[in-house]
Amino acid sequence: MRFFVDTADVAAIAELNDLGMVDGVTTNPSLILKSGRNILEVTKEICGIVSGPVSAEVVAMKAEDMIAEGRKLADIAENIAVKVPLTWDGLKTCKVLSDDGLMVNVTLCFSANQALLAAKAGATFISPFIGRLDDINLDGLELISDIRQIYDNYGFDTQILAASIRTANHVTQCALIGADVMTAPPAVIKALATHVLTDKGLDQFNKDWAQTGQKIL
Ligand code: E4P
Repeated sequence: MRFFVDTADVAAIAELNDLGMVDGVTTNPSLILKSGRNILEVTKEICGIVSGPVSAEVVAMKAEDMIAEGRKLADIAENIAVKVPLTWDGLKTCKVLSDDGLMVNVTLCFSANQALLAAKAGATFISPFIGRLDDINLDGLELISDIRQIYDNYGFDTQILAASIRTANHVTQCALIGADVMTAPPAVIKALATHVLTDKGLDQFNKDWAQTGQKIL
C-alpha cells in the first residue's frame, strides 16, 4: 500500500520523505489555511520535495471554473493530481481533465455509488473519507471494502485512496481490504511505529544492560 501524507506542512513532509515514507501528498483548502501559505507557492515547494502525486484542490463550484482552476494547478508541476469534489460539476471536470491526460483525485466520497461514478468519469484516484463517516456512526471501512469489490468486479483501474484516516487501525484495515493508497496526517503515520510492548521491552532491556556495566562504544 502506498502512503500519502495529508498535510501542507513542508517540514513534516520533508521529514517523512527522507525516511522513504511518502509516496505522495494530499492537500485541501483547510490544510492550506492551516499552513498559512499561498496555495500556488506551497504546492510548488511540495512538488519539489516529493516525486509522487501531489493533490491540489479546486475551489470553484461550476465545471467551467473548476476546469480552469484545475489546469492552473496542473501547471505547477508534472506530479500534480487535480482534486475535485464529488459533485456533478466535479465529475464533469474529472472527465475533461482526465481526457487531457491529467491525474484527477475525486474527493469527498461517502458512498459506493459516488465511487462508481468517479471511476466511470476516468478518475485516477477516488478518496472515500473513512473518519468522517465514523464520526456520524457509519462504517467508513465498510465503504472501502464495498468500493474495492465493485472496482474489482468490473476491472476499474481508478485507485482507492483511503482518506480521513484517524487511527492506526484504519491503516491496518485499509491494507487488509486492499486500498491502493492511504493518506494520513504525519502524526498518524508516526503513531504506526509505536506499541506498548515495544516500550515495555525496551525499558527492561535498558535496565538489564545497565546491570552488565558494559559499553558498546
Ligand atoms: C484527503 O484527501 C483529505 O484531505 C483528508 O483525508 C480529510 O481528512 P479529515 O476528515 O481528517 O479532515
